[in-house]
Amino acid sequence: MKILMVCLGNICRSPMAEGIVRDRIEELGLDVELDSAGTGDYHIGEGPDKRAQANMRQNGHDISDLKARQFKAKDFDAFDRIFVMDQSNYQNVLSLARTDEDREKVELFLNLASPGSDAEVPDPYFGGESGFQHVYELLNESADKLMEELSNEKS
Ligand code: 4NP
Repeated sequence: MKILMVCLGNICRSPMAEGIVRDRIEELGLDVELDSAGTGDYHIGEGPDKRAQANMRQNGHDISDLKARQFKAKDFDAFDRIFVMDQSNYQNVLSLARTDEDREKVELFLNLASPGSDAEVPDPYFGGESGFQHVYELLNESADKLMEELSNEKS
């Protein structure tokens, strides 16, 4: 299973999602490949936002090694499931889809924790520190569901 997390800048939400899920995959010993990307090109090559790194460290995860990259159409070939953080990411990713198979890979990440809600992970970039903890908690709930699904697939 190959999973891609996608947001706008690839410096806040999707690297946080990647960091949470990456550590769980390791704990559980699952055979899952994971990456993240942004639909925008503003921060290519940069590490995660300092506030995202600090929040993740407080929550026990180190994401200092991650580097931002931009989502490309070829990611549809490389990944089985593509999780987006908000409706704008969803539209931007779908605009690059070539086939129904590509489109079917794309899901809102929070629909794992709240099926059918189409809830969004709010963009914390222009807000304060507390926004990052809110994002962490939302991501963590869906990460729980994802780990349940992946563990069940394995058995
Ligand atoms: P992210 O947050 O999509 O969660 O990484 C953002 C980061 C940067 C920008 C917007 C959102 N920006 O406009 O530079």
